[in-house]
Amino acid sequence: MLKIDFLLLLMPFFILTGCGNSENERSKPKIVDDSYKNNRWYTESQYKMGKVVFSENCVRCHGTKGQGLVENWKKPNPDGSFPPPPLNGTAHTWHHPMEILVQTINNGGAPYGGNMPAFREILSEEEKLAVVAYIQNLWDQETYDRWVNMNAKF
Ligand code: HEC
Repeated sequence: MLKIDFLLLLMPFFILTGCGNSENERSKPKIVDDSYKNNRWYTESQYKMGKVVFSENCVRCHGTKGQGLVENWKKPNPDGSFPPPPLNGTAHTWHHPMEILVQTINNGGAPYGGNMPAFREILSEEEKLAVVAYIQNLWDQETYDRWVNMNAKF
């Protein structure tokens, strides 16, 4: 009860500050296929390699444009695991620094009781970076810049 009251109290604040609105806008990413031209860390050829890696290994769970498979990816499956989240900049992925992104690709979801398979032995180091490039190429410039400001350590 207390928690609900607290959220209700905060409601007008979110409405007034437009927080809710900007969240909605973020759910419709402007996907530009040539983001690699916009001063990103990766090259066009890394993006192209990542596109192949992604379509062969990740699409079945994360969707053709990294949109995920279900609308409500925060709702747990009946067994308590979570559906694959979108990777296209609308979920949490941009909060994670490079090393955590690569770590997730290496270890999959097992450390958290999740369903994502581990790709440590399946992809080369070059392919892991390339697939991150492909994912980040799905992010609009605002999202990418936020990632750089918050996390980039290279
Ligand atoms: C069998 C389905 C499946 C496949 C295949 C898969 N993933 Fe995932 N992925 C998930 C799930 C589910 C999660 C959430 C963590 C968990 O529960 O395992 C996740 C989480 C992630 C995250 C963390 C996202 C975040 O916002 O924190 C990244 C990054 C990611 N996956 C990248 C990839 C990449 C890159 C590939 C291909 C090389 C891939 N995944 C293949 C199911 C999958």
